Amino acid sequence: LFSGRVDFLLSAPQLKFLPEPTVPEIAFCGRSNVGKSSLLNALTGRRSIARASVTPGRTQELNFFEVGEPTLFRLVDMPGYGFAKAPPAVVDKWKKLVKSYLRGRQVLHRNLVLIDSRHGIKEVDRDMMQMLDEAAVGYRVVLTKADKIKASELDAVIEKVADEVRKHPAAFPEMHVTSAEKGMGIPELRAAVLSDAGV
Ligand code: GTP
Ligand code: MG
Repeated sequence: LFSGRVDFLLSAPQLKFLPEPTVPEIAFCGRSNVGKSSLLNALTGRRSIARASVTPGRTQELNFFEVGEPTLFRLVDMPGYGFAKAPPAVVDKWKKLVKSYLRGRQVLHRNLVLIDSRHGIKEVDRDMMQMLDEAAVGYRVVLTKADKIKASELDAVIEKVADEVRKHPAAFPEMHVTSAEKGMGIPELRAAVLSDAGV
């Protein structure tokens, strides 16, 4: 499926620009620079359909991508959170947009919450997960950039993150360990996303 049509649809800087809720949506959230755009590229097998940048906080809007012909579902690249240098006004705008999207979007089937393997779960991630628990939208926790740390360290992080994940009612107990760079865990996550989208 991902080898078929995957197209950028639109960028929504505000709620009024959201596309019509006609198909299931799977959203990618996580801290700035965690690897959302890179994971989206890896899953769709496109090198740069979602712009992966070295400048944190680059993705400021909700970016929608359509999969299938005719469209079967959408992938949504969310703006990154927890970027220390962001002015308060930008953070407020982000919170408002993301919260309204998460709470009000009927077609939102699943969220992927990305966590950097090197850093584990941070306070801003807990806030995000709590927001999702409250919105009662099920989410998968995805460890990213697994190629960046040693296998022994990775095991420790997985255990620690798993302990936290169990405390969150809307989180799936099983996690995904991935590297967009090396392709690790990508086929498994791709299958999970397709199943979440109901295709
Ligand atoms: P924002 O849109 O700014 O919130 O960032 P993002 O979460 O979309 O992150 P992005 O995909 O742009 O990746 C940030 C940086 O991490 C880039 O330099 C990527 O090349 C790098 N990166 C992403 N995934 C991986 C990975 O699996 N392995 C390695 N080694 N680097 C990665
Ligand atoms: Mg991005």
